[in-house]
Amino acid sequence: MRVLGIETSCDETAVAVVEGAAGAQPVGRILSNTVYSQLTEHRRFGGVVPEIAARAHLERIDGLVAQALDEAGLGLADLDAIAATGGPGLIGGVMVGVMTAKALAFAHDKPFIAVNHLEGHALSVRLTEPVEFPYLLLLVSGGHCQLLTVRGPGDFTRLGTTIDDAAGECFDKTAKLLGLGFPGGPAVEKAAVGGDPKRFALPRPMWRKPGCDFSFSGLKTAVRQTVEKLPADDARAVADLCASFQRTVGDVFADRCANALVLAPSSTLVVAGGVAANTYLRGRLEEVAAAHGAQLVAPPVRLCTDNGAMIAWAGVERLRLGQVDALDFRPRPRWPLDPAAANRM
Ligand code: KG4
Ligand code: ZN
Repeated sequence: MRVLGIETSCDETAVAVVEGAAGAQPVGRILSNTVYSQLTEHRRFGGVVPEIAARAHLERIDGLVAQALDEAGLGLADLDAIAATGGPGLIGGVMVGVMTAKALAFAHDKPFIAVNHLEGHALSVRLTEPVEFPYLLLLVSGGHCQLLTVRGPGDFTRLGTTIDDAAGECFDKTAKLLGLGFPGGPAVEKAAVGGDPKRFALPRPMWRKPGCDFSFSGLKTAVRQTVEKLPADDARAVADLCASFQRTVGDVFADRCANALVLAPSSTLVVAGGVAANTYLRGRLEEVAAAHGAQLVAPPVRLCTDNGAMIAWAGVERLRLGQVDALDFRPRPRWPLDPAAANRM
């Protein structure tokens, strides 16, 4: 099964073609994976501007579809379905991707599949690793921070979520306060190299509390207050603060995952989403998984941040189950993976 996947929910315009076997088994093949990162468009604003993002998606999307097909050596007739992120995300961008996918599907008489962006992250590990359902998932991105049991496409139980900010947002804010640039996660990780992770004692919100929920707003405030007291042009202090910040996030992730592994035991802990690209945090999660007799499995770093391949792969997983969407599907700014849990918050 070959599926073209389109991702436009934030600031990456991404199109990929992925191939998977018709059965339910994991591991597919990436035939092409193209991306245009809108870094220059947003950099001077220090964050993503929704209207600028939507226009940039519109300008790039057709060229990227052509490029993805070209690199895969395929025509539209060779595809089995067209998938696009249907939400959640910045609605202008999601509309560009959904309209493009619907038009291609209609014109070439192919099924259209609306993929939940979070499901794209949640299933992405199975594109490259032989991970069977069910598994425990820590989903950590710029907009989300959740622990879930993943039983299959559309079948999730949320164990915990953030009560305020997402982990990636906290990385981005820390980078901004320290003038390290945007996006913040990779910048903080780089600046932390060689830093002293014990120099600054930062608060660990939710640490050692029951349950699996997260909170990052107090940590964000503490980082801001610490930055205000830092001497100017002190590279060592910046490295130490970044290392201390990362260790704090690592402590929180480890504590929350330990609770999840007790509440919903699993032999596999998966981490996905942009923050999963962080090598230090992966190491911390490996330790906590091992301490609970589980194994940490993560997608390759390049598939952690937003990409078209994860959307195409989620399309493959859905197509196998016959889960396709009608052309009147409406893009969704919000779309929880576990609607029952979302109603409780
Ligand atoms: O999944 P993603 O690409 O987009 C969303 O769906 O939000 O995640 C982006 C987030 C950003 O907050 C970015 O700073 C963070 O992932 N991120 C990282 C790293 N690479 C990206 N955070 C920590 N360490 C990294 N290496
Ligand atoms: Zn994402």
